[in-house]
Amino acid sequence: MRKIISLFLLSILFYSCDSLFKVFQEEDLLERPPAKRCADCHRDIYNQWKESRHSLSWISEGYKKATQNYKKTKCFSCHIPYEIKIEEKPHWRKKHREDGINCVSCHFKDETKSMHGPYDVFSPPHPSTEDKTYKTSKICLGCHQETYKQWLVSKSEKQCQDCHMPAKKGSLIQKFPFEYLHFPKDVHNHSFPTGIAKDNDFLIKVEKNQTSIKVYITNTGIPHNIPTADNGKPKLYLIAVFYKDGKEIYRDFEMFFPKKSLAYNREYISEFISVEPFDKVKIILERKLSWEKKREKILEKEF
Ligand code: HEC
Ligand code: HEC
Ligand code: HEC
Ligand code: HEC
Ligand code: HEC
Repeated sequence: MRKIISLFLLSILFYSCDSLFKVFQEEDLLERPPAKRCADCHRDIYNQWKESRHSLSWISEGYKKATQNYKKTKCFSCHIPYEIKIEEKPHWRKKHREDGINCVSCHFKDETKSMHGPYDVFSPPHPSTEDKTYKTSKICLGCHQETYKQWLVSKSEKQCQDCHMPAKKGSLIQKFPFEYLHFPKDVHNHSFPTGIAKDNDFLIKVEKNQTSIKVYITNTGIPHNIPTADNGKPKLYLIAVFYKDGKEIYRDFEMFFPKKSLAYNREYISEFISVEPFDKVKIILERKLSWEKKREKILEKEF
């Protein structure tokens, strides 16, 4: 008898807790709302995402042009994904396209009807599921397939997120009362910064002859090709400037692009021939990201 009563009481308790949480549950969050809706609580993450290339993947001028004004449906899957997959590219969605790659496409799973993420959280407004793949490069694989393959052969211990979603301690929430109910956590930068290579990411040796040079260049710092792309057209320029008595006498360059790029830890040899004998040569590396109009300088060294 006692057992039955306590079971009864327990179930009442459970039932009331459940309805207590239901008060906080916001059903529309489970219907793949636009990113702006998530900003009601995750304001800081939303603001970062808004600055990311992911938020522009549909409305970017480059994409609009390359798809002939959205005529090529085969180009939709990674640019307006419905729900990301690990091994294959996602299906494309019909709603909220202007959002590009939005919050729910990366986080919401139909299978569990919940937000998947790196943590085990208590999140009354919507159910959440802890999913450790969010901490690994695999989560990027479905769309960044070429880059992922290059990363895999580099055998790097660093995941894509370590460099492209650097973490800072903070709150996941900027809304009363939730912001006071949760401990600070690592918040990963949702602007997905591309970053830029540093001087010491390259090993450069120059062999000088009377009127020519051989440049030996190795990407020793970035665990994927430079430049790398699945569809974009980023470029890297290796420029040689020859000097005689302090005056520039000649310059030439070699261009790298995704199909001919600097793989991790593999030496590449480039030869340049000057118009006349020289006494100094400057090696410059510049890059142009696929969506940028201008080039940026990565490094400059004299030999
Ligand atoms: C749903 C497909 C998809 C997933 C998943 C995805 N990306 Fe992307 N990513 C894209 C697309 C498409 C672009 C290009 C958007 C544009 O510029 O129009 C992009 C752009 C980027 C850029 C900017 C590249 C540049 O040219 O400056 C970085 C960095 C990046 N993604 C990193 C990541 C990382 C890290 C992950 C995993 C945590 C990830 N992405 C997951 C599709 C995806
Ligand atoms: C009414 C507030 C509210 C709204 C709106 C909201 N969330 Fe959350 N979310 C929470 C709370 C609370 C947590 C837990 C925070 C913590 O533990 O620090 C959370 C956690 C998360 C997590 C982490 C899950 C994990 O297991 O790591 C993800 C991902 C997430 N939300 C995605 C979203 C997305 C996507 C949207 C928009 C569709 C959204 N949330 C809208 C309140 C909200
Ligand atoms: C391209 C996929 C992608 C998009 C788009 C995306 N996220 Fe995330 N999000 C991730 C990944 C990957 C992690 C886990 C990073 C880690 O732990 O290394 C994450 C982590 C989180 C977390 C847990 C806290 C943290 O930073 O680790 C929350 C909350 C979250 N995202 C909410 C959002 C919201 C809200 C949006 C839209 C404004 C959004 N995400 C857009 C991939 C994405
Ligand atoms: C050790 C840090 C590091 C790791 C790990 C890393 N990247 Fe990068 N990535 C960079 C840097 C730095 C650049 C900028 C290179 C440059 O100067 O143009 C870059 C550039 C990119 C670009 C822009 C393409 C280009 O060449 O302009 C994309 C897309 C990208 N990374 C995706 C990824 C993905 C996906 C992963 C995981 C599979 C990953 N990265 C792992 C550091 C890293
Ligand atoms: C397998 C996933 C995938 C598919 C399918 C895809 N893209 Fe992309 N796209 C990406 C990723 C990832 C990037 C980010 C940089 C990179 O790796 O090229 C990108 C970047 C771009 C960019 C450069 C960024 C910008 O906004 O200017 C353009 C243009 C582009 N894609 C056009 C297309 C076109 C055209 C198609 C169809 C022929 C297409 N994409 C299909 C994944 C994809």
